[in-house]
Amino acid sequence: MDEQSVVTAYRRLSRQYDRFFGPVFEQGRQEAVRLMDCRAGDRVLEVGVGTGLSLDHYGDGVQVVGIDVSPDMLEHAKARVNGNADRITLALMDAQALEYADHSFDKVVAMYVASVVPDPRKMIEEMKRVCKPGGELFIVNHFSGDKGPMASLERLVSPLSKLVGFRPSFPLDEFLAMADFDVIETKKVNAFGYWTLIHARHHG
Ligand SMILES: C[S@@+](CC[C@H](N)C(=O)[O-])C[C@H]1O[C@@H](n2cnc3c(N)ncnc32)[C@H](O)[C@@H]1O
Repeated sequence: MDEQSVVTAYRRLSRQYDRFFGPVFEQGRQEAVRLMDCRAGDRVLEVGVGTGLSLDHYGDGVQVVGIDVSPDMLEHAKARVNGNADRITLALMDAQALEYADHSFDKVVAMYVASVVPDPRKMIEEMKRVCKPGGELFIVNHFSGDKGPMASLERLVSPLSKLVGFRPSFPLDEFLAMADFDVIETKKVNAFGYWTLIHARHHG
């Protein structure tokens, strides 16, 4: 899956995205922002902000920057910034090459992006780079198990990842080893606990 395929997939999906993926992913979004426990003055980077479904969850006084590689998804997010332009900024940007200086943000979050981004390792490196030492990192994603019928199915459809627009086979232990996170906690979220919320501290 390359970046152009992602942009094309989300061009097609953008108009229906909120209807299908709004409710399904909502509990995970709310839980991530609750766990972020943002204070007034915090600078937060949301990577792959999509149509901005999480933006309402941040409290007043929190400075949120949302980036996404899809102009179509961002177009929908713009409607959600209305009246909050003093605290929410959106930018068209690749998560794998963030245009921010090192240590720019207190908290960095990516919800449902790690399976979509072409190079998740690069995305994580960039999230860590722009996070302040002592800051916090949050990932919400589906990770595959290594046993059972679902794991077999996920491995089976894995070669179709370009078509379905995400990487269905993505084991959590491999992801954590790759990310080299200092994990504070992991929690199951959304229906059947099928997605995982990872909360990590960044030591810089
Ligand atoms: C499944 S959607 C999740 C959107 C949103 N976070 C949510 O909670 O609904 C994945 C998003 O990641 C974005 N994305 C994929 N690859 C990206 C990249 N390289 N850089 C920035 N955004 C990317 C897509 O454009 C899409 O908006």
